[in-house]
Amino acid sequence: RKSYRIAVIPGDGIGKEVVPEGVRVLEAAAARFGFTIEQQWHDFACCDYYARHGAMMPEDWKERIGAPDAIFFGAVGWPATVPDHVSLWGSLIQFRREYDQYVNLRPVRLMPGVPCPLAGREPGSIDFWVVRENTEGEYSSVGGRMFPGTEREVVIQETVMTRHGVDRILAYAFDLAQSRPKKHLTSATKSNGIAITMPYWDERVEAMARKYPDVRWDKQHIDILTAQFVLHPDRFDVVVGSNLFGDILSDLGPACAGTIGIAPSGNINPSGAAPSLFEPVHGSAPDIAGKGIANPVGQIWSAAMMLDHLGEREAAAAILSAIETVLAEPALRTADIKGRADTVTCGKAIADALG
Ligand code: NAD
Ligand code: IPM
Ligand code: MN
Repeated sequence: RKSYRIAVIPGDGIGKEVVPEGVRVLEAAAARFGFTIEQQWHDFACCDYYARHGAMMPEDWKERIGAPDAIFFGAVGWPATVPDHVSLWGSLIQFRREYDQYVNLRPVRLMPGVPCPLAGREPGSIDFWVVRENTEGEYSSVGGRMFPGTEREVVIQETVMTRHGVDRILAYAFDLAQSRPKKHLTSATKSNGIAITMPYWDERVEAMARKYPDVRWDKQHIDILTAQFVLHPDRFDVVVGSNLFGDILSDLGPACAGTIGIAPSGNINPSGAAPSLFEPVHGSAPDIAGKGIANPVGQIWSAAMMLDHLGEREAAAAILSAIETVLAEPALRTADIKGRADTVTCGKAIADALG
């Protein structure tokens, strides 16, 4: 019997409500498909921990996490008590960097029965992947503030693109495009205005594309690309973007397909030298936290991505079809997609649908 060691980190707000539903479904999948999940829960990487210790994580957090097969993460952030840049740079962004999870893989799919805010879109007509660079780019610690508090105040934050960093995310995205029937890739750019880093990005895309002659590709400036997401979401197959562009596109895409509440992500280190981390795209949603109404599907779909990553393909596919069954039923889905269920009801329904 195969066994997987999973580090479980719920985080803040609705992270604490949706992670147990993800774990419920993982357990149901394990029972049905004959493997074991060994859970190691951690109470750090959350703002309660910060309140007690003055830091988001203990200094020896890496030793405490050890070498699990994957990390199952909720969401972090409680801006009423800890500034977001402190809580996020002290937890999630550290994980992505320390574990070199350079791919942030985020599917966008219009599921059967989910109300779509765009008119005339059928299930299946929106089905693409956002591949987001996850360790460099606009998310950089290079910069500073000068003459603070004076009229001469200046703040600078540099975008960092390395050839290694850009090429490896592009190779991942082209590989993914090549594996799909449409074999199409769109690169997000802004090389008309951001005149050093973005022309470099475009240059590396062109160089990489030469290695994939069977992949059709185009590049679009991020401004019109966001418009195309709304007007023609059916045209996309794989969309690759820098850290910030990928972040924006991966909220916009799921919103176009109904809700960010169902969107999952994998923060992946493809080398396997460090654990990958699976979490929903959404945050801790302080506005609905504690009410028991958060959509658990983003967390549950992240569990499916995690199992797929671990090689449990059948279990992952079964979770996806259980999600589809439940989302089509208003009594079993949550209010963000015109449903009537609470978090636990929805999570239990997906676990039950797994059989
Ligand atoms: P958010 O994703 O938490 O919430 C945005 C809106 O979407 C809110 O109205 C919220 O109620 C709704 N929403 C989000 N997830 C939902 C779900 N599962 N079901 C139903 N509705 C849902 O984004 P925000 O408000 O910008 O951020 C809140 C906090 O979360 C901040 O501290 C932010 O930094 C943090 N954050 C963390 C992560 C992460 O840990 N990966 C991601 C995004 C934001
Ligand atoms: C995400 C989030 C994070 C990001 C924030 C919370 C730092 O928005 O995972 O998409 O920007 O990467
Ligand atoms: Mn985001």
